[in-house]
Amino acid sequence: MLWVEKYRPKTIKDVVADKSILERVIAWAKRWQEGIPQKPLLLGGPPGVGKTSLALALANTFGWEVVELNASDQRSWQIIKRIVGEAVFNETISDEGEFLSSDEGRLKLILLDEVDNVSKKEDFGGESALIKLLKKKPRQPIILTANDPFKLSKELRDLCEFIQFKRLRTDQIVKVLERICASEGIRCDRRALIAIAQNAGGDLRAAINDLQAIAEGRKEIKAEDVVVAKRTQELDVFKVMQKIFKRFDRTVYTDAMNLDESPEDLIVWIDENLPLEYEGEELLKAYLVLSRADMFLGRVKRRGFYRLWRYATYLMTVGVAYAKQKPKGGFTRYQRPEIWQMLVLIRERRERIKSILKKIAKNSHMSTKKALNEMFFFVVYMLRHADIETASKIAVFYDLSEEEIALIAGESRAKEIKEFARRKGIKRVEVVEEEEFFKAFEREEKREEVKVEKKEEEEREVEKEKKAKKRRKKKKEKAEVTLDKFFS
Ligand SMILES: Nc1ncnc2c1ncn2[C@@H]1O[C@H](COP(=O)(O)OP(=O)(O)O)[C@@H](O)[C@H]1O
Ligand SMILES: [Mg+2]
Repeated sequence: MLWVEKYRPKTIKDVVADKSILERVIAWAKRWQEGIPQKPLLLGGPPGVGKTSLALALANTFGWEVVELNASDQRSWQIIKRIVGEAVFNETISDEGEFLSSDEGRLKLILLDEVDNVSKKEDFGGESALIKLLKKKPRQPIILTANDPFKLSKELRDLCEFIQFKRLRTDQIVKVLERICASEGIRCDRRALIAIAQNAGGDLRAAINDLQAIAEGRKEIKAEDVVVAKRTQELDVFKVMQKIFKRFDRTVYTDAMNLDESPEDLIVWIDENLPLEYEGEELLKAYLVLSRADMFLGRVKRRGFYRLWRYATYLMTVGVAYAKQKPKGGFTRYQRPEIWQMLVLIRERRERIKSILKKIAKNSHMSTKKALNEMFFFVVYMLRHADIETASKIAVFYDLSEEEIALIAGESRAKEIKEFARRKGIKRVEVVEEEEFFKAFEREEKREEVKVEKKEEEEREVEKEKKAKKRRKKKKEKAEVTLDKFFS
């Protein structure tokens, strides 16, 4: 049996949490016991800190039945919708979705676990259904849990009593691990437990899982075992991906080198599953790192330069892991990639990012390397977050195509940016300058033409004058001659 389940807290006393949290939830439960309906509890916090456990332990402590609804399961939401429709809250539903009457006023805790997982999927109106439900002031205690409660709407949060869980401290984790070791009859070096606890980053579930993996087939755990055990653990590509995507742990590089999978296969797995875990900026950063790894793999093939294999592996494991902002929790069902397809995609994406970098480099007058280090993420940030006019100007300035903007900022934003630029006639500064120049030039030219015309006119005038003078002179001469002749 998995130790995380075996040692799940049975009663509220077994839950490791701040005293203030425990007091609040106990008071909440007692008021329910006295027949005074309370707002639902919303337990927020990172994975593996005991949110689900606290809810279950609380119900167990007060002898409540638990109706656990999985928020990412569509069937659960059909049940919720039914509850909303019926508006009967002294009735609850069984695990099979059947309505049950509460016997002898026994309360039933409705546990909606990881509600933030579902709110994004608007296809069956998850969040609004939930809001509707809560507004009807249910007559049964409800507990919601969420990894990131701020993903939920404020309206939903305001309908609940919000309790924030923190990451567990190393000493709190060590205490639980010690208890487990004692109960399993395992002698354990405290330093080993501290190492496991520190590595878990406040996630007790991860710590317990690691402990169980290391303790497998042993009666004693020494400090050295922690490192060695990790290396010799049976590793598969799923575990490696989990470590890359969810944690900050450099040992994942060694794990990857010990895999049966070649780096060429591993990169495809990572590329396929990356978008299931990362989003926004971290996704883009990770793609950049993967592109570079892919480039090195290409060189290995072409030149048989096998040292680069290691570098590529390092990039796709540690590099990708450190592209994220925070450790990630929850369980992710990874997908098997279609290899031929993914290889093409990686190359394409790399080409496109390269082309964006080139444009930034050209227009900001720097090398592509500098453009990557100093400008790229700023441009990305602005395209995503700046007001639409600024974003449009930036996109136009760097001469980015809609496809390129989409890669950086998502399709709908790209469309919006391009649309705005078109509507407002935003043009590149250079183009504008050129146009101004031409206009000025034309004006100048016209002036010049006029001048030339005038000059010609004047010249013609002068010429005329000259001719006229000549004629007059000739006339005079003629006359003179004639007179002379006349007088001579
Ligand atoms: N605060 C805690 N007190 C006692 N055990 C805990 C605590 N947090 C986590 N655990 C252990 O880790 C496992 C996972 O905890 P869980 O309550 O499912 O975390 P969450 O719901 O916050 O992701 C539990 O089965 C339990 O063994
Ligand atoms: Mg949970």
